[in-house]
Amino acid sequence: MILAAGLGTRMKSRRAKVLHELAGRPLIAHVLRSAFELAPEVIFTVVGHQAEEVEHAVNAAANRLANGKNVTPELRFVLQAQQRGTGHAVMAARNQLAGRAGQIVILAGDAPLIEAATLLKLVQTHREEQNDATILTVLLNDPTGYGRIIRDNDGTFLRSVEQKDGSREELAIKEVGVSMYCFEISPLLDALGHLTTDNAQGEFYLTDVPKILQAHGKRVGLLRHSNARELLGVNTRIELADLERTLRESKLRQLMLSGVTILDPSTTYVQQDVEIGPDTVIHPQVIIEGLSRIGSGCAILSWTRMKNVEIGDKVTIRNSCVIEDSAIRDGATVGPFARLRAGAEIGENAGIGNFVEVKKSKIGRGTKASHLTYLGDATLGERVNIGAGTVTCNYDGVRKNETIIEDDVRIGSDTMLVAPVRVGRGSVTGAGSVVTKDVPPDSLAVGVPAAVKKKLK
Ligand code: UD1
Ligand code: CA
Repeated sequence: MILAAGLGTRMKSRRAKVLHELAGRPLIAHVLRSAFELAPEVIFTVVGHQAEEVEHAVNAAANRLANGKNVTPELRFVLQAQQRGTGHAVMAARNQLAGRAGQIVILAGDAPLIEAATLLKLVQTHREEQNDATILTVLLNDPTGYGRIIRDNDGTFLRSVEQKDGSREELAIKEVGVSMYCFEISPLLDALGHLTTDNAQGEFYLTDVPKILQAHGKRVGLLRHSNARELLGVNTRIELADLERTLRESKLRQLMLSGVTILDPSTTYVQQDVEIGPDTVIHPQVIIEGLSRIGSGCAILSWTRMKNVEIGDKVTIRNSCVIEDSAIRDGATVGPFARLRAGAEIGENAGIGNFVEVKKSKIGRGTKASHLTYLGDATLGERVNIGAGTVTCNYDGVRKNETIIEDDVRIGSDTMLVAPVRVGRGSVTGAGSVVTKDVPPDSLAVGVPAAVKKKLK
């Protein structure tokens, strides 16, 4: 069960906290990923603030996680209309939990780095010790804001105390609970009935449940985890930025260990789902996002930003390119200052140069557009040369129209190709011509509007 109904007041945001993004994904999607890996029967998400948006985010993340798997957990949502505390959140699921036997793992929607292995260990400990509740804890140098874990002299759990309720001695304790538990379902449901709001925040605290269980003769165990980073919650935007940095650094380390050169890790941003092949060199201040795959032996130069790209081997992306939803094949060169928009497909060994914009166009093998050009809704063959200042005039004010340029064509500088139009194989256009009609193969077309002057050998 993922608790995700709160607004997250300390974020100072109109958006529910669990929707804030870490590494390009909502916090809740990260938690869901580990929950999925645990392979439970059901995943409950308690929603309240912006319930619809949170449900949407969970469903979207689940669809991605389910991709390629044949057994996936059932997703269920629990509405906690008013947020009266973490205990109240679990109470909201009472009806859905009633009659179920076994264990439930409870997670906080705002602690995104939790790993499935840790949860597995929590469940194993719970089962081995035959506990009714097992609390995941950790030691923090600065425990401020977290609920402290009070143990007696022999280390047995006594109770848990929230920051706002603790005495000075209690708040000096550095062991904290992180809102992650494993419970036996039926004693949990019984204990929820005994929760009160008799505390500084007037809330139903889930942290009070273990103490209640103990008072009823049930067993409460503690599992102290050593990696604090993994368990930290996001409460403020400062903590969000901290986790972003943690994730980014670990992604870059993983890439470097797999053979990618990253010249300046402190200014390189690579999101989690990006794959990069060995011997590719990433220069400073590069951003690579989304679902991107880059081959080996490539060079990505500074100030380039790419999202959802598929790049082959030995590709060079020069400085300051902006590339989205595009494919670039082996040996091609792009930039500096090139803009590839959705649906650009740059063929093998092709060259896209300075101030060239390509949209929804296929550029053939070995074709070059080196300067100041717009190619939109176009299909270019192999070994074509596009002169500086060429424009495919694809928009007639109503429709987007196609331009087709066949193999071995040479388009003269400043040619306007008024689409729909086709330039036949081996033809040449003169500088400054405005091509309004199809040009047959092996011809020279010049003028405004362009007329076919002669047949070329
Ligand atoms: C909670 C714990 C605290 C622990 C800390 C770890 C309680 C009383 N306190 O405090 O001991 O150290 O987490 O991060 O449990 N939520 C709901 N409904 C609510 C309230 C909260 O779904 O009515 C959800 C929130 O969306 C969030 C999670 O529960 O995902 C934790 O809530 P939050 O308000 O951040 O709890 P903390 O004050 O951090
Ligand atoms: Ca929290």
